[in-house]
Amino acid sequence: MKILVVNGPNLNLLGQREPGIYGTDSMEACLASLRERYADDEIDYYQSNVEGFLIDRLQQTLTDGTQGVVLNAGAYTHTSVALHDALRSLHVPVIEVHLSNVHRREAFRHTSLLTAACLGVIAGFGLDSYRLGIEALKAQQA
Ligand code: DQA
Repeated sequence: MKILVVNGPNLNLLGQREPGIYGTDSMEACLASLRERYADDEIDYYQSNVEGFLIDRLQQTLTDGTQGVVLNAGAYTHTSVALHDALRSLHVPVIEVHLSNVHRREAFRHTSLLTAACLGVIAGFGLDSYRLGIEALKAQQA
C-alpha cells in the first residue's frame, strides 16, 4: 500500500515538545520503525506548520497514487474548516490520529472539525497511534 502520513503544526518538535504529554521519541524514529515494520508498503511523510501547505499536500493524493492517509493535524484539528473541506474532496480513506487522548485534556481539544470527514479516529496511544492508524488503513484494504 502507498500510505501518506501527515503531521500538522508543532509536530516537527516531537521528542522535545511537552515530553510529559507527547513523549521523548522523535517522529523520525517513529517513521524508521514504521518503514521497517511495513517494509512491503510505501510510507510517505509530510509535515508543515502551515495550514495551506497541508491542504496542498493532501490534494496531491488525488493524483500521486496514495491509497490512504494517516493525519495528525495538531491544533488545526480543532479549528480548520479548510482542512475539513480538503479531506472531503479526497478519494482515499483518512484516519485521524492524535498522540494524546484529546478527550482527557482541555475542553477546546474535545471538538474535532475533521472527524466527520475521516474514516475514524485513534487517540491516546502516543507514537503508536500512527501504527494503529496504518493498521486501520490496511484492514480496510484487506
Ligand atoms: C495533538 C492534540 C492537539 O490538541 C494538539 O494541538 C497537538 C497534538 C496530539 O497528537 O495529541 O498539536 O494532535
